[in-house]
Amino acid sequence: MILSRFLRLAALAALVVFAVAACKREPTPAATPPAPKPQAAAESGDYDEHSYAEPDKVAIDDLALELALDFDARTIGGTATYTLDWRDDTATTLVLDTRDLTIERAEGEVAGGSWQPLQFELAGRDDLLGSKLTIQAPERNARIRVAYRTSPAASGLQWLEASMTEGKATPFMFSQSQAIHARSWVPLQDTPRVRYTYSAHVTAPADVMVLMSADNDPAAPRDGDYSFRMPQRIPSYLMAIAAGDLVFKPISARAGVWAEPATVDRAVAEFEDTEKMIATTESLYGPYRWERYDLLILPPSFPYGGMENPRLSFITPTVIVGDKSLVSLIAHELAHSWSGNLVTNSSAKDGWLNEGFTSYVENRIVEALYGEERADMEYVISRNGLKAEIANMSPEEQALAVRPGVVKNPDDSLSAVSYDKGAWFLQFLEERFGRAEFDAFLRGYFDHFAFQSIPTARFVDYAQEHLLEKYPDRVTKEEFDAWLYEPGIPGSAPQVMSRSFGVVDSARLAWLGSGTLPPQSITGEWSTQEWIHFLEGLPDTLSIEQLSQLDTAYRFTGTPNAELAQRWYPLAVRSSYMQAYPAIADFVRTIGRRKLIMPTYQALVATEAGLAFAKEQLEAARPGYHPITTGSVEKLIAEAKPAPGSGTPFMPGTIEPAVAPDAEVDAAPPAMPAADGDPTRPAPTGR
Ligand code: BES
Ligand code: ZN
Repeated sequence: MILSRFLRLAALAALVVFAVAACKREPTPAATPPAPKPQAAAESGDYDEHSYAEPDKVAIDDLALELALDFDARTIGGTATYTLDWRDDTATTLVLDTRDLTIERAEGEVAGGSWQPLQFELAGRDDLLGSKLTIQAPERNARIRVAYRTSPAASGLQWLEASMTEGKATPFMFSQSQAIHARSWVPLQDTPRVRYTYSAHVTAPADVMVLMSADNDPAAPRDGDYSFRMPQRIPSYLMAIAAGDLVFKPISARAGVWAEPATVDRAVAEFEDTEKMIATTESLYGPYRWERYDLLILPPSFPYGGMENPRLSFITPTVIVGDKSLVSLIAHELAHSWSGNLVTNSSAKDGWLNEGFTSYVENRIVEALYGEERADMEYVISRNGLKAEIANMSPEEQALAVRPGVVKNPDDSLSAVSYDKGAWFLQFLEERFGRAEFDAFLRGYFDHFAFQSIPTARFVDYAQEHLLEKYPDRVTKEEFDAWLYEPGIPGSAPQVMSRSFGVVDSARLAWLGSGTLPPQSITGEWSTQEWIHFLEGLPDTLSIEQLSQLDTAYRFTGTPNAELAQRWYPLAVRSSYMQAYPAIADFVRTIGRRKLIMPTYQALVATEAGLAFAKEQLEAARPGYHPITTGSVEKLIAEAKPAPGSGTPFMPGTIEPAVAPDAEVDAAPPAMPAADGDPTRPAPTGR
C-alpha cells in the first residue's frame, strides 16, 4: 500500500515528488500496536484501547460525506471532509481508524479555499483494530479531505441481492457501525470519545431509497440523490446508512416506520405504541432531543435485535410477531436516545453506562405502558440469563466497571453483566433512594452530561455528589462499590418475583412429574414471556416422547416466534430430537440475529455429528449472513472440541415430520399458527 515519510515543512515540489514515490508498491507494512496509554487518561479511565485516534491532539468537529453507492461492485466510494479542532499546539498529524479501506488521496484546504495533497501512511492491518491511517498536516489545516473506497467485505456493511429481500426486486444495503465497524465504511476517529456533527450527499440507483442516522425526510422524492444533515454531535458508532426499497408510514407526527412495502403495515401495527413510549420517557427523563424518531425494519439477516442509530433505530423483523409481545426492544432502542446517544460511554469497557442504563429505562417504559407484571416477567427472564452467563465468566468480567484489557473484541463485550447487572444496580439505587428521588437524579444526570461521552468514573463522581452525599445513610459506599467493582450479584440486590411465572413453574413441574400437560384454560392465556419461562425451566435434555408430546400440543418446531425457537432448538439438539432438524436448518439459515441463533449453534458444535451439521448450515447460509454473524459462527466452529464419534448424524429423508400436519394443537403459544389457524398469515421472520 501507500507508504511515505513525513517532512515537517516540505515545499510543494517535494510533496509532488513524494506523491509519485508513494504510488510505487512497497512491502506490506506491519500493523500498528495501539498507542500507549497516556498516564492521565489511564488514571481517569478515559482511554479507548480500541482506537488508534489521538483526539487529545486533534478532533473531528464536523464530517461532510460525498458518497456513491455501487451495488454491483458492493462498494461505497467518495470523500470524507473533516473540519478539525486542533487541540494540542504541537500536533501536526491526523490519525484515523480504517479497516479494509482503499485510501486514494488525502488533501488539506489552504488559504483561498484550494486543496493541496497531504502525505499519508496506511499501516498494516490488525485483525481487531484495522489499519491506522496517519495524515501529515504540517500546516494544521482547518479542513482535511480523504478520498476512499470501501471493500466488498467491509465488516460494517451488508449488501443483499434483490433475491434476498422481501420484494425480490431491489437490492438492499445496511450498516452496523457499533462497536468498531464505522471505520470499515468511513475513515474516522472511531472512538466514542469524539463527537461531531455530520452531513452527507449520497447517490444510488434511482429506484433505491437511502436513509441515514440523520434528518430523513418522510416525503423525500425517491430519485437516487439524497442529502442528510445530523446537527447534533454524535460518536462514530452511531453513523448509519441503509438503502433499498424502503417506504414510510407514520405512527404519529414525529414517529414512523421505514420498511419494505410488504412489511410496513404489519410493523406500524406492531409498533403503534411508539409515540406513547416517547411521551412516557420524556415525562420521566426530559425532552426527546433528536426531533424525529423513526424505526427502520431490516431484513432478517440483521445481526442484532436493534441498533439505536439516532433518529432512526434499526430493528430486526423477528420481533414482529403480531401481538406486540416483543416491543420491549423498541423501548430499549428508544431509551438509548437518553442513555447512550445523549450521554455516551467513552469506551467499550464502560458499555454498562449505555446498556445497563438503557435496560433499566426500557423496563420503566414497559412498566408504564404494559404494567408491573409484564415488567417483572421481563426482569426475571433477563436475570435468569444473567445468572447462567455469570457462571461461565471470569471474576474480572463480572464487574460492571471493567479494567482496560478485559474487553478484547468489543462486539463480544456486551455481556449480560453490562445489560442486566447494570439495570439491576440502578433498580437497587431506585429502591434505596426512592423512585421520585432516583427519577430526578437520572433526569439531572442526562441533562448534566447531555451530548458528552464519559467513563464510569464520571458517573461515580456525579452519583457520589447527587445521591450518596445528598441522601446520606441510604446506601453505603461499600454497597455502591460492590456493584461496580466486585464479581457476582451483591447481596443488596432487590429480588423480583412474578406471580404469572409461579403458575408456569407449577405447570412445568406437574408435567415433568406426571406427563399431564396444563389445561388449555391456563396455557391459553400465556404470553410469549410465559412460554419463554416454561421452556427455560425445562431440564437440559428431554426424552423424544416428551419432546413429541410438547410439539404435538404446542408446535414449537417450526414456530414463527424466534424467541421461542431460540430456546426450543438447543433443547431439541441436546436431546437428539432429529425431527426438529429440518426446521433448525431453516431457522439458522434465514435468521442472522446472533442472540437467536447462537444458542442452537452452540448446542450443535458440542457433538461431532452436530458440528458437521453446523458447518453445513454455515456454508448454505454464508451468502445471506452478515459479516458479524459469519464471524461469530466461524469462531464457534473453529473452537469446538466435540468428543470423537459423538452425536446422531442427521439423515435427511429418513425423518418423520415433528408433528403430523393435521394434528390437533392444544393452546398454541402466541404467534404460533394453530392447526386451524390462518395459513396465509405471513411468518414474522421474513421466511
Ligand atoms: N447497542 C446495542 C447493540 C450493540 C451493542 C451492537 C454492542 C454492537 C455492540 C443495542 O441497543 C442492543 O442492546 N440490542 C439488543 C436489544 C435487546 C437488549 C433489547 C439486541 O440486539 O439484542
Ligand atoms: Zn442497547
